[in-house]
Amino acid sequence: MATLIASLLSHDIRHHLAAVYCNAEFMNDPATLAADRKQLFEEVRLAIEDITKTLDFILLHAKSELPSQVVLESFNNLMERTVAAIRPHPHATGVRITIEESPSISALFNKTIVGSAVYNLLLNACFAAQRTSESGKVEISLHEDQSFVCIRVKDNGPGVPAGVRQSMSQPFVTSGKQDGIGLGITIAHYVAREYCGSLQIECTYPGCTIFALRLAKPSINYYPAQS
Ligand SMILES: Nc1ncnc2c1ncn2[C@@H]1O[C@H](COP(=O)(O)OP(=O)(O)OP(=O)(O)O)[C@@H](O)[C@H]1O
Ligand SMILES: [Mg+2]
Repeated sequence: MATLIASLLSHDIRHHLAAVYCNAEFMNDPATLAADRKQLFEEVRLAIEDITKTLDFILLHAKSELPSQVVLESFNNLMERTVAAIRPHPHATGVRITIEESPSISALFNKTIVGSAVYNLLLNACFAAQRTSESGKVEISLHEDQSFVCIRVKDNGPGVPAGVRQSMSQPFVTSGKQDGIGLGITIAHYVAREYCGSLQIECTYPGCTIFALRLAKPSINYYPAQS
């Protein structure tokens, strides 16, 4: 299991490094304005912080010290942080990413692995949104029902290719990407399973694709406040 986690999260580090590389190139461009340089540097700082946390997680996992890592976390903060981490990635260039108004929800979950699932769903959505003739749009929102906390990621891209819909939770299933490895959905699926939830495509057709990541409330020790 440690090997699986390590290989899945190495995949995320690779994507964070793509964002760092992209920003480094802009920072090196003499035409980049000082104010933009500052923003680019801040994004690099955030990406390196995420990479460090991911590496710490892999090390702790190898030492089986994970329970100490599970603390009360806010899903809203996680969404904001993940959107900020996605913005500098080349697959997000030109895409408008918005966080829909959502209820405030905190629970006991591991930010590194849940963040990884959300990161990968957002990255796929951005890549798809770049491929529309209109302007690319991605929305992320948070919901809850009696049994689950649900994060939905919606894009206005061309839709999931029919050839991969059934098999995309398997490792190394990829389609239409020059640099695709085929692990993003595998990670999101793994995280859903860890929290007794699911990863579902709620709809997919040209102009609208929605992925829903559900985590079971008992598995994150979240119970709605009694009124
Ligand atoms: N929002 C989406 N819209 C359209 N197609 C999608 C979407 N999300 C996933 N896909 C399809 O599912 C495939 C598998 O996704 P997955 O994230 O597992 O791998 P990948 O994105 O190809 O590579 P990586 O390992 O870098 O994530 C993608 O190659 C793409 O064809
Ligand atoms: Mg992907």
